[in-house]
Amino acid sequence: MKVFEHKNSLQAAIEAEKIAGKSIGFVPTMGALHQGHLELMRQAKKETDILVVSIFVNPIQFNNPADLENYPRTLETDKALLETVDCDYLFAPDVDEMYPQPDTTVYRFGKLASVMEGAFRPGHFNGVAVVVKKLFEMVNPDKAFFGEKDFQQLAIIKAMTKQLSLPVEIVPCATVRESDGLAMSSRNRRLSTDERQLAPRIHQILSKAATLRNVLSPHEMQQYAKNELDKIDVFNLEYVAVADDVDLQSFEHWNSVLGARIFVALQLGNVRLIDNIRIF
Ligand code: PAF
Repeated sequence: MKVFEHKNSLQAAIEAEKIAGKSIGFVPTMGALHQGHLELMRQAKKETDILVVSIFVNPIQFNNPADLENYPRTLETDKALLETVDCDYLFAPDVDEMYPQPDTTVYRFGKLASVMEGAFRPGHFNGVAVVVKKLFEMVNPDKAFFGEKDFQQLAIIKAMTKQLSLPVEIVPCATVRESDGLAMSSRNRRLSTDERQLAPRIHQILSKAATLRNVLSPHEMQQYAKNELDKIDVFNLEYVAVADDVDLQSFEHWNSVLGARIFVALQLGNVRLIDNIRIF
């Protein structure tokens, strides 16, 4: 694996691969890699010739300074994990390399960005869109791979790619879970032992709620999940939402949408967790 800290040398190496007829698969990350990330990379390896991974903790997508400060940074362990999936190029720039000057681009994603994470983390998706657009320009991938755990982020990136007519295919990949159902996340390593034991309740409650589709309306299902999550004292719930799987808006009747998911965000101790599952 070759490691690049500067975009010019990364771009030159990728350009040479492209001239040689190789396709480029890209997995952008913020590091603290886990099996969920590695699964995206394995998928990229299957679908493209050259795997490029970026590790960059993007300051402008953090609306909470403590979250940015506490975000795990484990570059050496990450490099060893990347070797196990046969990563070809790692791009690990510093903040000055990514932002030689402040980026003032403002994206408009309308109602897609005004719900759920968009409502609770002002500016977050603009920061994600800015950095992903910059990374796409630097890496010039044929395909980029994103996890469905961050389903709204995936929708935002698809929308940005369409808005700007970027020549990259966005490939969604299923959420990878621990054996007890907890969605894998870099943040999980910050949970205490007690918190870690309770965290799988999130997936259990969402899964149970989703089975009640024939007896509950979308609103009632949302309320059911909220009540169950509220019973766990240490869960500090931000939102539960039943929404369609394209625009991520709430709706009244099951037959008014083609697909739906149930989404949750909560604070467990100092750790913010999100998850979602498909209802149909
Ligand atoms: O999902 C993430 O890790 C980040 O939001 C991303 C896509 C790498 C942008 O910083």
